Amino acid sequence: MIIKILGSAAGGGFPQWNCNGLHSANVRAGKPGYRARTQSSLAISANGSDWALLNASPDLRQQINDTPALHPSVDGGLRNSPIKAVVVTNADVDHITGLINLREGQKFSIYGSDRVLATLNANSIFNVCAPENVPRIAFALDRPTQLTGAGVDLGLTVEAFAVPGKIALFLEKGGEKENYGSRDGDTIGLKITDTATSKSFFYIPGCAEVDPPLAERIKGAELIFLDGTLFTDDEMVVQGLSHKTAQRMGHISISGPNGSIAALKPLSIARRIYVHINNSNPVLDENSEARRIVDSAGWEVGFDGMEVRL
Ligand code: MLT
Ligand code: MN
Repeated sequence: MIIKILGSAAGGGFPQWNCNGLHSANVRAGKPGYRARTQSSLAISANGSDWALLNASPDLRQQINDTPALHPSVDGGLRNSPIKAVVVTNADVDHITGLINLREGQKFSIYGSDRVLATLNANSIFNVCAPENVPRIAFALDRPTQLTGAGVDLGLTVEAFAVPGKIALFLEKGGEKENYGSRDGDTIGLKITDTATSKSFFYIPGCAEVDPPLAERIKGAELIFLDGTLFTDDEMVVQGLSHKTAQRMGHISISGPNGSIAALKPLSIARRIYVHINNSNPVLDENSEARRIVDSAGWEVGFDGMEVRL
């Protein structure tokens, strides 16, 4: 199985268009130790020819252009694409709006939870991917679903499971102070398995907490891509960028007693890679103390174009 990080940044990308915070300003100025990042997406393939996207970011057009494996085949006719399926893990802007780039009548499948597909169905602009060409398939949680699209079996299964998280920001109901109207299935994690080799990995780009059921599920995994949005819970507040903490946004922080470094330390996961990294996160600076802490804890910071083979 081939896994490519198309985009390693959180919503807004890095640098974010209107952000003059320390890290966005530094990457824009070309300061050594920084690299630009597009928004949150992976591409996966069992055979190197047929691909599924995990999330479709607003940067998808650029990501496809930057990734030759996702280009049309030169001998595949006037219109063709190796992208046969898209799996979405929540309805956040950074994870669904790239679907609009995939118009033009191409056949592929969209997989998601019923909660997330309901958001697509409620927004008619997504009908640019007309359901007769692009079926929307709600998968059951907690059991594997075979990925297919445009008549192709991708040789991969996806098992979706609810993780602690939150409804998309633009769907938040202000009155419901407790959880803003969030329910199970608003944010999911994925276990992807290559059916021929039985190799598998986890992809959880949005997650508020590693609770005991999630810890049990990911224990002993060969590879995980995990929510690396913020290094500390209050870093956006401290940097003056927002009044919101990581918890308020539905994201676990990397550091601290309840952070992801601590939570995954006892779980014997062979390879751990952060994705969905926000422009405020000091790990974006390769020369930072935060980056040293992450490195020495055995974590990697994902980057656009990173490829892993399992
Ligand atoms: C998130 O990950 O919290 C969202 O993508 C935030 C947003 O919609 O900007
Ligand atoms: Mn996001």
